[in-house]
Amino acid sequence: CGIVGYIGQASSSREHSALDVLMEGLRRLEYRGYDSAGIAVAADGELYHRKKAGKLANLAEELEGSPVPAAQVGIGHTRWATHGGPTDQNAHPHLADEGRLAMIHNGIIENYAQIKEEMLAAGHTFLSETDTEVAATLLGHIYRHEGEQDLTKSMQLASQRFEGAFTLLAIHVDSPDRVVASRRNSPLVVGVGEGENFLGSDVSGFIDFTRKAIELDQDQVVTITADSIEITDFQGNSAQGKEFTVDWDASAAEKGGYDTFMEKEIHDQPQAVADTLLGRTDATGRLILDELRIEPEELLNVRKIIVLACGTSAYAGMVAKYAIEHWCRIPVEVELSHEFRYRDPIIDPTTMIVSISQSGETMDTLMAVRYAKEQGARTVSICNTNGSTIPRESDAVLYTHAGPEIAVASTKAFLAQITAAYLLGLYLAQLNKQLFSEQIKDILADLADIPAKIQDILDRGDQIKQLARSMKDADSVLFLGRNVGYPVAMEGALKLKELAYIHAEGFAAGELKHGPIALIDDGQPVFVVMPSPMDRHSLHAKVVSNIQEVRARGARTMVVAERGDEAVSAYAEDVFEVPETQPMLMPLLTTVPLQIYALELSTAKGYDVDQPRNLAKSVTVE
Ligand code: G6P
Repeated sequence: CGIVGYIGQASSSREHSALDVLMEGLRRLEYRGYDSAGIAVAADGELYHRKKAGKLANLAEELEGSPVPAAQVGIGHTRWATHGGPTDQNAHPHLADEGRLAMIHNGIIENYAQIKEEMLAAGHTFLSETDTEVAATLLGHIYRHEGEQDLTKSMQLASQRFEGAFTLLAIHVDSPDRVVASRRNSPLVVGVGEGENFLGSDVSGFIDFTRKAIELDQDQVVTITADSIEITDFQGNSAQGKEFTVDWDASAAEKGGYDTFMEKEIHDQPQAVADTLLGRTDATGRLILDELRIEPEELLNVRKIIVLACGTSAYAGMVAKYAIEHWCRIPVEVELSHEFRYRDPIIDPTTMIVSISQSGETMDTLMAVRYAKEQGARTVSICNTNGSTIPRESDAVLYTHAGPEIAVASTKAFLAQITAAYLLGLYLAQLNKQLFSEQIKDILADLADIPAKIQDILDRGDQIKQLARSMKDADSVLFLGRNVGYPVAMEGALKLKELAYIHAEGFAAGELKHGPIALIDDGQPVFVVMPSPMDRHSLHAKVVSNIQEVRARGARTMVVAERGDEAVSAYAEDVFEVPETQPMLMPLLTTVPLQIYALELSTAKGYDVDQPRNLAKSVTVE
């Protein structure tokens, strides 16, 4: 979500109105979310707020019809829904303390259900389904009863209670001279002005007004007034922020300083995976997928799963098949939505359809889901866009929390889809007891380590970028993989087709000898996605043989392998190491170098990576 906060003083020579600053900031931040938007300002002892589902233009229209008075303090939000659909009601800000306090939020408050119960017991009521309203209510409650009616102190106390990831901003009519914010594992920066100060989820929130900024640490509360910035930890001990100057232009700022959205989104991946994992276990480590509105008894009746998707999402579906069959012992078919729909598939009420779609609007997938539903199947949607059509028409939904994906070619949504598919697999295995709870906990612990491992690969991205630049004249690249490395090979090839317009194919490495090996001649580049050396079927040795076979025929071999995989280096021109993890989870790591490779090769060729020719982000025709 996009977040902005502003405080000025009426007499300031700059004389910005809070509303103008907020709307300008939100316009710059709209790339962070665009399913609803809202603002709140305080003026003359009153709080005014307006919020609207849909794009920012809807909010602007609302403000025209129903203006708010001139104010010097305010907060604004553009939302990418997580808890609760994208409705007016669920849009931020949320009010508390009898309409005297307004709050906006980015992130997920994991223990909101427990806090909500407490607040209900204390006599509070709720208008929306969001965790944000719960957070606002707790803040208001603390303000009245424990926080000495001091907004900063109350925010510190409330923040100690929240679990999960959050950026929170609040204003209160009692103290119209300040905005108070808090952050844990979720972005927030301070913009430093003269006689005015700003807050933003990133610098684009205030880049039109100041280029002086302050970086905050985790678990900090910041209070801005027109002429002061005070930072503390959650206990109230004062802390220092780090000042920096923003030297990006506004368009670079919304890309987080990267040249393209795709590069930014590749770098968003640790967060996308972490956010998708967030809030899905209880205190004892058991998985809880409360969005999955299908009764456990019904899930236990599932005899067959069919995964439906298109493009990159279909490759996430193939990874899902390996994981779900292995962990749950339920047969899984994966099919392209447009093929499934027209082949008279066998479906009955014990069939569960799992559709995977970033946008939730892909017509092929929507039609396939509708068809399966008519045939009596249960339908689950794995989707990145809250409130979109496919999840709305499905019986249940498991949202990926990758945030909006702007670049046409999918990257962070893909890793988030795979993560969600693992969660679904583990949840079913928890229900049908095909895995012991200790096994599930082990896998979840390894999943929790994945974001840092992706970061490690990103930090070493230069090696693969150099290789990509040296290959800009290649006209064909092949990709080989086995087991869960097979869909990764196909995704690597698809990225290259989409972005660099190079002929590229992904093959199952075992299939090489049955045909594709005829394509190999002198200098043919071949990427090999190595299975883990720990793979239980010893596929590793077989793929090492494949590398030797193509190398003997003149191929240039580039290998993505686990760190310390000694066996491959002897046969590979280039080796890209990824950190160790369990074999089933490797796609979350091995995909990343292939994304960087395609991005860099396309850039070297001078193409527009964010909007490749002939492609659309969301294909809403059959
Ligand atoms: C389009 C996009 C692809 C995407 C596919 C499926 O073709 O260009 O990047 O993988 O649609 O989209 P979905 O939103 O259903 O995941």
